[in-house]
Amino acid sequence: MPVNDFLDKSKTFEGKEIPEGQLILQDQQLLKKYSINKNLVVELGTFKGRGAVILSMFAKQVITVDFFGKGRPNNYELVKKDLDKHKNIKLIKKTTREAIDKFQNNSIDLLIQDAGHSIEAVVDDIKAYFPKLKNDAIVMIHDFKYMDGSCDASMDVKGGVKYLVDNKMLKLIEIAGWYWIGKIHKEYTTWN
Ligand SMILES: C[S@@+](CC[C@H](N)C(=O)[O-])C[C@H]1O[C@@H](n2cnc3c(N)ncnc32)[C@H](O)[C@@H]1O
Repeated sequence: MPVNDFLDKSKTFEGKEIPEGQLILQDQQLLKKYSINKNLVVELGTFKGRGAVILSMFAKQVITVDFFGKGRPNNYELVKKDLDKHKNIKLIKKTTREAIDKFQNNSIDLLIQDAGHSIEAVVDDIKAYFPKLKNDAIVMIHDFKYMDGSCDASMDVKGGVKYLVDNKMLKLIEIAGWYWIGKIHKEYTTWN
């Protein structure tokens, strides 16, 4: 199914203009809840910038990462032009892995993983960004299904979350909207 067929076209959140995207209203409210007054929020997977713009309304600084792959409906120049209007958003055009050295250790308050949706992508992203997270950081992992409830076989976010929880990297605190939300467990994990 073409991506544009299941985008949410609502144009505003709390009176401010937002780009179209897959984040439903409940997701938008959860972004607000967890980003309020945070110093640094990092979003992996920008798409057209819907999440980034909402986050920029509440957090002090937002850095959003997307590789803008060929043939995708999101165009880097257009998204950059849109996001440049928001002084506290920085857009990085790289893969999540290539962007990693842009971040200092123990600097991220909130990490939102919404890039690859396979077990490996979810686990690898959280593992890679783990040293960059503050000890009390929150991680939000966005799941995805088509509007008819079906899911592509390559998307197993739940499997990735289960791995992170089983390995004591993440302690779930809320499952709502399309998000798995957890606190990180730096003291328990052997990953570093
Ligand atoms: C579901 S969309 C993100 C939606 C976005 N958070 C929003 O608020 O609308 C997933 C995005 O992740 C990007 N992506 C997928 N794998 C990636 C990777 N390894 N590195 C960087 N970006 C990636 C895709 O290009 C796509 O734009």
